[in-house]
Amino acid sequence: MAENTKKKGFIGNILALPNDNPKKTIFVAALLCLVCSVLVSTSAVVLKPLQQINKANDIKKNILAVTGLLTDDADVDALFAQFETKVVNLDAGKYEDIDVTTYDQRKASSDPAQSVTLTAEQDIASIGSRAKLATIYLLKENGAVKQVVLPVHGYGLWSTLYGFISFDADFNTIGGLQFYEHAETPGLGGEVDNPKWRKQWQGKKAFNEQGELKIEVVRGFVDYKVAGAEHKVDGLSGATLTSVGVSNLVKYWLGENAFGPYLKNMRTEMGK
Ligand SMILES: Cc1cc2nc3c(=O)[nH]c(=O)nc-3n(C[C@H](O)[C@H](O)[C@H](O)COP(=O)(O)O)c2cc1C
Repeated sequence: MAENTKKKGFIGNILALPNDNPKKTIFVAALLCLVCSVLVSTSAVVLKPLQQINKANDIKKNILAVTGLLTDDADVDALFAQFETKVVNLDAGKYEDIDVTTYDQRKASSDPAQSVTLTAEQDIASIGSRAKLATIYLLKENGAVKQVVLPVHGYGLWSTLYGFISFDADFNTIGGLQFYEHAETPGLGGEVDNPKWRKQWQGKKAFNEQGELKIEVVRGFVDYKVAGAEHKVDGLSGATLTSVGVSNLVKYWLGENAFGPYLKNMRTEMGK
């Protein structure tokens, strides 16, 4: 009998116990947990590079969408190759000479060394802090800028909305606004993704003739009989809080505490 116990070993002995034995129940449960955790962590490690590729691809698709270049059968990489990626020093309003392929603006925004904390007065987008440097995308044709894409983010009602806004070469006429990440309610705040609502942004002017930032999302509908309609976008019905959030985040990112100095420099450079 003693020899038999030795032969089976520890695992064999436990498994030979009756199914209602507490020792066997605990052992089987622990073994199952171990096997599952190994499976989950292995798949997380194995799938991480694929997830990163998908994430990068999604960003490219959103940049193409906000510039009107995305079609169903688009060769995303080929189209994205028309863009030049640059990093802007927001305070200086000028390009920063760093490696754009390794700079991660989202990571930088939560790194105290690479970000600035916003005062309550500055923080109309409710983001707390922002990176000192921002990644932007220039769509070029024969060496000349055709469109520029800027990253924007800010708080809506339930979530931080992350997206892109594009401008024509005058750095004032909006080409589009597109969010790629948010958790607003589908059918309410989630209507920020509705192509009909997004279309309204096309052609709106962010700044007036004097260079003052005027763009805003209004409550209700824009009155086209009243002056200044070219700076206004309809609010989302039943989603006033998300609409206010979008209005504020756009104003923040185009304002003097974010892309304002860069846009001003570029408008001057373009002679606009
Ligand atoms: C379940 C639920 C989800 C909601 N989701 C949103 C939302 O995503 N964005 C939003 O602005 N309001 C949302 N609201 C409505 C707000 O609570 C609030 O009533 C609304 O923003 C007021 O806008 P209105 O003046 O256009 O009706 C939601 C309400 C409920 C009950």
